[in-house]
Amino acid sequence: MYGLVNKALQEMVEKQLGPATWEVVRKQAGVTDDVFISMDAYPDEFTYQLVAALCEVTNQKPDDVLHKFGRYWVLDTAAHHYGHLLNASGRTFREFLLALPNFHARVSLIMPRLIPPEFACDEIGDNRLVLHYRSTREGLVPFVVGLIQGLADLFHVEAQTCILAARSDGPHHTAFEVVWNDRSIG
Ligand code: HEM
Repeated sequence: MYGLVNKALQEMVEKQLGPATWEVVRKQAGVTDDVFISMDAYPDEFTYQLVAALCEVTNQKPDDVLHKFGRYWVLDTAAHHYGHLLNASGRTFREFLLALPNFHARVSLIMPRLIPPEFACDEIGDNRLVLHYRSTREGLVPFVVGLIQGLADLFHVEAQTCILAARSDGPHHTAFEVVWNDRSIG
């Protein structure tokens, strides 16, 4: 994955737990790079090892860490560094989710080595849709749930996400039902 993913994880840990904790996590993960270059591609294993080490060091479950990181990714990393991409992709939570299938194609224009996830949407009612997620990578479903939560917070809606079909139901595919209301919570 591009270095900006590991960099964002580092920022989250340093901000929330301090730089010393990050050093422990990085060493425990066996990652020797002390600086990640945003636009360099790193082996996916680095990211998985860093998440596993963070779980061990802070005694958290991987699902919780990935969920928090998804939320952080939208509200901090994307909002601060890639605001133009977010703004161009929708003015409401609904618009943004419906645009997700094309989102990473736009990201690929500036990151040609991206191996992106795939999304598809079925609108099944007012403020209710099924989001299909397909990936070549394992174990990132809680990250997606955190990303959706981050988007809900960004657009000031209350949203609930439930998993309809887990990856084990079919290769590389997870379906989520997302339900929300437009009541401002901000
Ligand atoms: C401006 C914001 C965003 C940027 C720049 C961005 C970029 C990236 C990058 C660089 C990766 C790592 C993949 C690689 O390097 O090959 C990635 C992965 C991923 N992105 Fe985004 N992304 C953004 C927003 C989002 C949003 C809003 C979602 C919403 C659901 C999302 C879903 C994912 C998922 C699930 C992955 C994990 C990869 C996988 O499942 O295979 N991203 N993205």
